[in-house]
Amino acid sequence: MMRRPAALIALCAGLALSTHTMAAELPQRWVSAGGALSEWISALGGEQRLVGVDTTSQHPESLKALPSIGYQRQLSAEGVLSLRPDVLVGTEEMGPPPVLAQIRKAGVRVELFSSKAELRAVEENLKHLGALLGNEKQASELAGDYRQQLEQVHKQVEQAQAGQQAPGVLLLVGHAGAKPMIAGQGTAGDWLLRQAGGRNLAEHQGYKNFSVEALAALNPDVLVFSDRALSGEQALSALLKENPALAASRAVREQRLVSLDPTLLVGGLGPRLPATLHELAGSFYPAAKASLNP
Ligand code: HEM
Repeated sequence: MMRRPAALIALCAGLALSTHTMAAELPQRWVSAGGALSEWISALGGEQRLVGVDTTSQHPESLKALPSIGYQRQLSAEGVLSLRPDVLVGTEEMGPPPVLAQIRKAGVRVELFSSKAELRAVEENLKHLGALLGNEKQASELAGDYRQQLEQVHKQVEQAQAGQQAPGVLLLVGHAGAKPMIAGQGTAGDWLLRQAGGRNLAEHQGYKNFSVEALAALNPDVLVFSDRALSGEQALSALLKENPALAASRAVREQRLVSLDPTLLVGGLGPRLPATLHELAGSFYPAAKASLNP
């Protein structure tokens, strides 16, 4: 009888020891580059491990209080290393490559995630983050929720399309209005437009600057615009001022203009996208908007 509690105590001590060892092996000081990725880290309860983030990591709001490592595509080794991280996480958008090599050489683990615009990438990223945070269960729950929310949006869009043709749309990413880049195939922007039931009129790959003539020829029904530096009305007026060809488009004449937060387009597909899709679908299918409300 005496041996049982002793064995139990030994077992408990062993368990405590092994969980302790595991926790010690998990990276404790994190630096994250890429808005959506940082959002997932927060959603998984990892925010207290973040010791620095890049300038696209603006959600949740509390991330803005953390030390900045600059823009995800233009990191400096000194900036990252000065925060003494155990791990730097980011997507293919993170760079430049020689700086990443320097950071690795200094002994910091660099973990790469996918910025591909597809559900599978979200599932893989969540699995990978879950393992690094020691929070696999919540990661798989979040992935399941995400899939369900997207299915919900698909159903709503299908219903709306029974009563209205898919609108032709363009997504412009500007910088204080100048030379907008247009979201083409394979981009998060294109994924967003399609998931919300829009027909992306841009057929090129990736993000590309368009000539005035090319832009004028497309004549979208709806214009979705996003600006790195400005928001809402300011972004729109800067865009129209710098790109007068847009003024003649059906979208501008009928004021079917939708402003999009640029942090929704960086660092992979993030947790706010299902809600964004729901809103976008409402703008694309105004007649069905009432029934689009959950
Ligand atoms: C909050 C969001 C964003 C911020 C703060 C931001 C900031 C910047 C900055 C400071 C630069 C470098 C200098 C410059 O060209 O002005 C830059 C370059 C660039 N950004 Fe962003 N950006 C954001 C979102 C985006 C989005 C949504 C895209 C996707 C279309 C994007 C794609 C690029 C590309 C392709 C470059 C050029 C990179 C290079 O030449 O190496 N950015 N951005």
